[in-house]
Amino acid sequence: MTPNGPPLLSVEHLHIAFPLGGWPKRRTLHAVRDVSFNVARGSIVALVGESGSGKSTIGRAIARLQAARSGAIRLDGVDVLQTEPRAASIAYRRRVQLIFQDPFASLNPVHPIGHPIARALLLQDRATPQTVAAQVERVLESVGLTPAADMAARFPYALSGGQRQRAAIARALAVEPDLIVADEPTSMLDVSIRMDVLALFRRIRDEGSRSVVLITHDLASARIVADRVVVLYAGQVMEDGPAESVLSHPQHPYSQLLAAAAQRGGGLREPLPAHPGAPEVIDPGPGCPFAPRCLKATATCQSTPPPTVSVRSDHLVRCHLAESA
Ligand SMILES: Nc1ncnc2c1ncn2[C@@H]1O[C@H](COP(=O)(O)OP(=O)(O)OP(=O)(O)O)[C@@H](O)[C@H]1O
Ligand SMILES: [Mg+2]
Repeated sequence: MTPNGPPLLSVEHLHIAFPLGGWPKRRTLHAVRDVSFNVARGSIVALVGESGSGKSTIGRAIARLQAARSGAIRLDGVDVLQTEPRAASIAYRRRVQLIFQDPFASLNPVHPIGHPIARALLLQDRATPQTVAAQVERVLESVGLTPAADMAARFPYALSGGQRQRAAIARALAVEPDLIVADEPTSMLDVSIRMDVLALFRRIRDEGSRSVVLITHDLASARIVADRVVVLYAGQVMEDGPAESVLSHPQHPYSQLLAAAAQRGGGLREPLPAHPGAPEVIDPGPGCPFAPRCLKATATCQSTPPPTVSVRSDHLVRCHLAESA
């Protein structure tokens, strides 16, 4: 699918840093560095990368739950980092919903799961006290939580992990947002339910002009639903392009390792055939963040920031070794 027109969401040169303790010098963790990507209307963009690559931090920033040091996050052209947070929050939440990585932490244990859905519908003027119960049931049915009347009255502790995750998805869907940021929404689901939830995201995209940012470890999920894939390492974009192009013809050595691991069925949970190490986000060197682990790295990769190279139509790679189209 090739959606046209200006993007719904545009992340531009986003930099998010966390001050850390330390002595004699206080240190800073750079969780997200110079990240840019677009989300077209009616599309699904997958953010993929290893643990600690900054995916959730970017998702929280898009949902306005995380401040940024610099950069812009434009929704329909308006930089949400520059708007007053409180005044706009209900209106913003109508348009952008975050599904948290940990559904247990995000569902309030003292309320049955129908409660936050009803509350969101009423707060956003999408239901009246007369219609709200039926609407809650419809939303729960749409994510396969049936019988819906019984499910609506259940407390989070009485649901399985997968059911809880679907309850969190239902709550986000209830207000029919323009953009859903879904942080690992299928990580606790077994394969058949995972396919159902991915199909649900596809339906959301296809039915309207709604968009999804899908944060995932799992390249197989990205392949099933994503229109674009953005590969992150140590808080930086390594590769960004149409899903088919990135997944079938990965150009960055890091994406190539991820794609090969996914083909073997191991996903990101198995060690990559790279030099051992972890993303360095506290004292990143001057060069490519992946260089210390890259089997193909040269002296230049270690010492010089990589250029952004256009390798195919609409497909960018940040690598000294990439050849431009
Ligand atoms: N509030 C915080 N204070 C300090 N460091 C933080 C904070 N939030 C995140 N980080 C750090 O930022 C980096 C990116 O974290 P983030 O949660 O975005 O990674 P992730 O890609 O979502 O990883 P995972 O796949 O494990 O969920 C990590 O090194 C993390 O420890
Ligand atoms: Mg995360």
